[in-house]
Amino acid sequence: MSDSETSDEGATTPSRDWQRYYCATEGRPPRPTLLRALAAFAREGLGAGGLAVDLGCGSGRDALPLLRAGWRVWALDSEAEGLARLQRQAAAEGLEGLTAVLGRFEDTPLPPCDLVNASFSLFACPPAHFPALWSGIVTALRPGGRFAGQLLGPRDSWAARPETSFVTRDGLDALLAPFTVEHLEEEETDSVTPMGEAKHWHIWHVNARRSS
Ligand SMILES: C[S@@+](CC[C@H](N)C(=O)[O-])C[C@H]1O[C@@H](n2cnc3c(N)ncnc32)[C@H](O)[C@@H]1O
Repeated sequence: MSDSETSDEGATTPSRDWQRYYCATEGRPPRPTLLRALAAFAREGLGAGGLAVDLGCGSGRDALPLLRAGWRVWALDSEAEGLARLQRQAAAEGLEGLTAVLGRFEDTPLPPCDLVNASFSLFACPPAHFPALWSGIVTALRPGGRFAGQLLGPRDSWAARPETSFVTRDGLDALLAPFTVEHLEEEETDSVTPMGEAKHWHIWHVNARRSS
């Protein structure tokens, strides 16, 4: 399973652009990183009933499949519009177990959990706050819990933006020291975002299991 889907992605830009992003990506399937984590839990006989934290959940591309699979989901986003879309769809399907949290990565403590899912979102955390955010992710995950998501690499076009967080390969290895890496894929490609922005992507797709 390749994780290449960067043409799906939006920009770290103002609210109106995130709303366009939610429209442009509506109905798209869950991320391969999430599916890989769910498959790994399933092999252990785990899953339904667990608590997933979805960071930068948007309108629920991953949160909704998690709820459908019987997970409880604590979904955080800084955009009320994304959360409202997620809540509407969850209610329409009669899905239970959703806690929607309006807040920013930088200042929202995470609950103890089994899975942290962060699809194409963590690079929007300002670099000054990223170390504390990552430390919060590691602390929130129970031993045997999993991280699934993406981080930006240094050659990404957005890495030059002062508000964007990126990691080098050595930096990534340091971040993943408390984990067993289950899948790591480096993607580097030229593509166009749903908002029509041409950009160079350098992405780490990560699946990792918190060491005991
Ligand atoms: C590219 S979208 C990804 C949405 C979803 N995870 C997906 O895969 O479709 C990034 C999301 O992160 C949210 N976001 C950006 N900066 C954030 C921050 N500092 N704190 C919380 N959420 C943030 C945006 O509002 C947006 O919904």
